[in-house]
Amino acid sequence: MGKKSNPAEIPRHVAIIMDGNGRWASQHHLPRLSGHEAGRKSVKAVAQAAIDHGVRYLTLYAFSVENWQRPRDEVQGLMGLLRGVIREELNEMGKEGIRLRTIGRRQDLPEAVREELEGAIERTKANTRLDLILALSYGSRVEITEAMQAMGREIKAGKLDPEKITEETVSAHLYTEGIPDPDLLIRTSGEMRISNFMLWQISYAEIYVTPVLWPDFGKDEFAKALADYAGRDRRFGGI
Ligand code: IPE
Ligand code: IPE
Ligand code: MG
Repeated sequence: MGKKSNPAEIPRHVAIIMDGNGRWASQHHLPRLSGHEAGRKSVKAVAQAAIDHGVRYLTLYAFSVENWQRPRDEVQGLMGLLRGVIREELNEMGKEGIRLRTIGRRQDLPEAVREELEGAIERTKANTRLDLILALSYGSRVEITEAMQAMGREIKAGKLDPEKITEETVSAHLYTEGIPDPDLLIRTSGEMRISNFMLWQISYAEIYVTPVLWPDFGKDEFAKALADYAGRDRRFGGI
């Protein structure tokens, strides 16, 4: 914090596992959904901070394929919250030059949420300041499995030569097609795990785990993570 970084030290793509809403709620003697609601202002603060720092891509893990196993009330509450946020923030996203995108199994989402999302994606598609990528019904293994299925179909149709498959071919079949890999991966609430998030894409991402719970994570915490990143020695296997 306080350290002014040179542009080369600013990650182009930051990905965040937004965790700890439930624990925040129980600390405040509130229902879990209040924790998710409280996390909303962190999303706004972090998107704004990303723009202010010149980060170009921000991916937020908002709902995993595994999260469908949660109690129905919580899932429904989260879906309602998501829909409301998109509706209420659409104008602001336009003003800030934010392009909304998603990765994940959009087909799993309730129709009302999907429609809200697709409208916002369409309306913001020409914006170029920040790509805000929401990972929704996202799972890395299912993403890789679907990529393999798609490549298999192309091979079968004679459109893809198996000998010519490169890492770029694989990347181009993932939900993140055309999006550069994350440079910095942040996880809040202290858990030291990846939870099926962007397994292929984070090969060389720098990892930053903070004990701060997601609803308490704001622009200062984001700046702290960037300052930490700026001090890292990224080697990519070299010396
Ligand atoms: C993260 O907070 C949000 C989602 C996974 C949707 P959690 O709901 O996982 O919060 P904790 O981990 O129970 O504290
Ligand atoms: C990861 O958090 C998924 C999201 C942040 C959306 P979880 O809370 O679901 O992960 P686990 O269960 O602690 O691994
Ligand atoms: Mg959690």
